[in-house]
Amino acid sequence: MPRTPFLAGNWKMYKTGAEAVSFIESARPLLAGATGRQAAVAVPFTALAETAKAAAGSGILVGAQNIHWEKEGAYTGEISAGMAKAAGASFVILGHSERRQFFGDTDEWVSKKLQAAISESLIPVVCLGESLSQRESGDTFKVLGAQIKGSLAGLSEAQAASLIIAYEPVWAIGTGKTATAAQAQEVHAFLRGELKTLLGAKTSDSTRILYGGSVKPDNVKSLMAEPDIDGALVGGAALKPDSFAQIVKFDF
Ligand code: 13P
Repeated sequence: MPRTPFLAGNWKMYKTGAEAVSFIESARPLLAGATGRQAAVAVPFTALAETAKAAAGSGILVGAQNIHWEKEGAYTGEISAGMAKAAGASFVILGHSERRQFFGDTDEWVSKKLQAAISESLIPVVCLGESLSQRESGDTFKVLGAQIKGSLAGLSEAQAASLIIAYEPVWAIGTGKTATAAQAQEVHAFLRGELKTLLGAKTSDSTRILYGGSVKPDNVKSLMAEPDIDGALVGGAALKPDSFAQIVKFDF
């Protein structure tokens, strides 16, 4: 089954609604004619509605960066999957390493958020990644194996139809240190194998696995040339329309 490349910006805590609309207006003509791929931006909650409205008809998917797993309740400061969806999100990033590191997200929370996302038909982008010390101590595969198993706990094959995984080595995020294409491919192949064990060959073949961590216009092509790298999740280089468009159009 062909896996359509998914090139997504993760804006993190950047851009107001007005700034987001201006980004979309600039990116729209730059992306015209970029077929055979999906462009996407994950925006702050406060910019969701305006960005989704501005992006209508542009082919750019708009998503959220987190959700709570409950539908509603006394959870001050939280946003449910249904709320994100109603504001215009089509997809959601789950378990980003910054959430795991600074806000206490665990594999168990990610598995609950995953169920909530799927119940609202939000495309889930589940993030996994090892730290520098885990890599240096030779624990990369052990850590990632536990993360994928825990984060996808309770997920059925049918529910996995829209699943996207993002491999983001923590040591490569915002550091300018990209994993080499070969290092990333090695991990992506491992994760595809884990998907096969957990959810079967069909899911393993059809699930897109994105790479994230210092992806830039000048390294995206070599990463995308690897057989198990199906897209990118991009922080810093996705904040400007021109570099985002260059990444989306990696093979133009
Ligand atoms: P950078 O592209 O800025 O390294 O960020 C990667 C990331 O965390 C995307 O989710």
